[in-house]
Amino acid sequence: MAKIKLDDIRKVYAGGVEAVKGVSIDIEDGEFIVLVGPSGCGKSTLLRMVAGLEAITSGTAQIGARTVNDVEPADRDIAMVFQNYALYPHMSVYNNMAYGLKNRGTAKAEIESRVREAARILEIEDYLDRKPRALSGGQRQRVAMGRAIVRDPAAFLFDEPLSNLDAKLRVQMRIEIKKLQKSLGTTSIYVTHDQLEAMTLADRLVVLNGGQVEQIGAPIDVYEKPASTFVASFIGSPAMNLLALQKQGQSWQLQEGEGLEIELDVAAEEITLGVRPEDLHIIPQGQTSHGVLTAHLIVSAVEPVGAESYVHGTLGNGGPEVILRAPGKAQFAIGSKLDVTATPDKLHLFDGNTGKRMEITPMRVVA
Ligand SMILES: Nc1ncnc2c1ncn2[C@@H]1O[C@H](COP(=O)(O)OP(=O)(O)O)[C@@H](O)[C@H]1O
Ligand SMILES: [Mg+2]
Repeated sequence: MAKIKLDDIRKVYAGGVEAVKGVSIDIEDGEFIVLVGPSGCGKSTLLRMVAGLEAITSGTAQIGARTVNDVEPADRDIAMVFQNYALYPHMSVYNNMAYGLKNRGTAKAEIESRVREAARILEIEDYLDRKPRALSGGQRQRVAMGRAIVRDPAAFLFDEPLSNLDAKLRVQMRIEIKKLQKSLGTTSIYVTHDQLEAMTLADRLVVLNGGQVEQIGAPIDVYEKPASTFVASFIGSPAMNLLALQKQGQSWQLQEGEGLEIELDVAAEEITLGVRPEDLHIIPQGQTSHGVLTAHLIVSAVEPVGAESYVHGTLGNGGPEVILRAPGKAQFAIGSKLDVTATPDKLHLFDGNTGKRMEITPMRVVA
C-alpha cells in the first residue's frame, strides 16, 4: 500500500495531441480515487502514465516514496484491471492468476496459497481449472480482479473494468469492488465515464474535462457544490438545470423568455443559475411559495421512472427547458401550467463567462 502523488503531469502524444494538461493529485494510502469525465478527456492516458504504459511528457509521478517516471511498469508495484479482462485464453483460471507470480519467481507453495485465497474472496474456487472461454463475463472479470489481488500490489489501477458487463451485473460487481477495496485497503485509481459508478465507488472524485482537473472532492461535496457548470451538468442524473441570466438594471432576468427575476449583488456581466431537478418543487394549487425562486412551468413531457417522475417543461413565458423530479407517478397534462419553487440554499450561481462557481446567495427572486 502506498500514497500516490501526481505533480503537474502532462501528456503530449506524437502528432501533438495534448491529452493531459498538467494534472496534480495527492492520493492517500488506501484511498479509492475515481477519475471521471466524458470520453476523450484523458482518463486512460493519465492512468496509463501511472502504470508506466505511456511515457510522462512532463511532471512527476510518485508511488510511495519513489518517483516512478523512469521505472519499468513491472517494477512499479501496481496491478491493472482492464475493461477487456486481458486474460490468457489458453491458460486455466488458476494459471491466469498464478502467471505474474511465477514470472517473479515466487515459490510454488506461496503461489498456491495466494491464488486459493484470492479465489475464495472472489468466489471463483470452483472454476480454477476452467479456461476463460468457459466463464461468464462476470466470472472473467473476477479472474481479472483475482490476478490483481494475488500480486498484493501497492496500488490497483482500474480502467473501466465493468463496461463490458450488462447493467445488473455491473451494479453487483460495483458493490463487490467497493467491498473488496475496503477490506484489502489497497490504494486504488479507478477510471470511468459513468458518473453514478464514480459517485458510488469513490472516496474522492477527480472530474476531468479536456485533460484538466475541474474538481476534486468527496462525491457528496462535488454534488452539492459543483465547482463549475461542467461539473454541475456532468455529475447527477437528470442533470442540473442551468439557466442563463442577464443583468437588467438592478436585477437579473432569463435571457430567453420572461417570468423570472432575481436580485443579486454580483459584479459579473452574465451569470448562470443552476438548480437540481430534485430542488425544484411544484407548489400545490391554492398554496403560496416559501421559496425564493418561483416561476411558472408549462409541462412538455412527463416520464414515469417508478418511484418518481421526471417532469419536463418550459420555464416562464417561452423560457428555457427545465426538468424536475416529482415523487410517485405524477399526472400532468401536456401544456398544463404549474407553479414551481426552490429555496435559496438550493440555487447555484456560476459566472456566465468562465462557468466557475460563485459563492453568493440570491437575495430575492420574483416570478
Ligand atoms: N496513442 C495515442 N496517440 C494519439 N492520441 C491519443 C492516443 N491515445 C489517446 N489519444 C487521444 O488523447 C485524448 C485522450 O484519450 P484517452 O486518455 O483515451 O481518453 P478517455 O480515456 O478519457 O476516453 C483523446 O483525444 C485521444 O484521441
Ligand atoms: Mg479510456
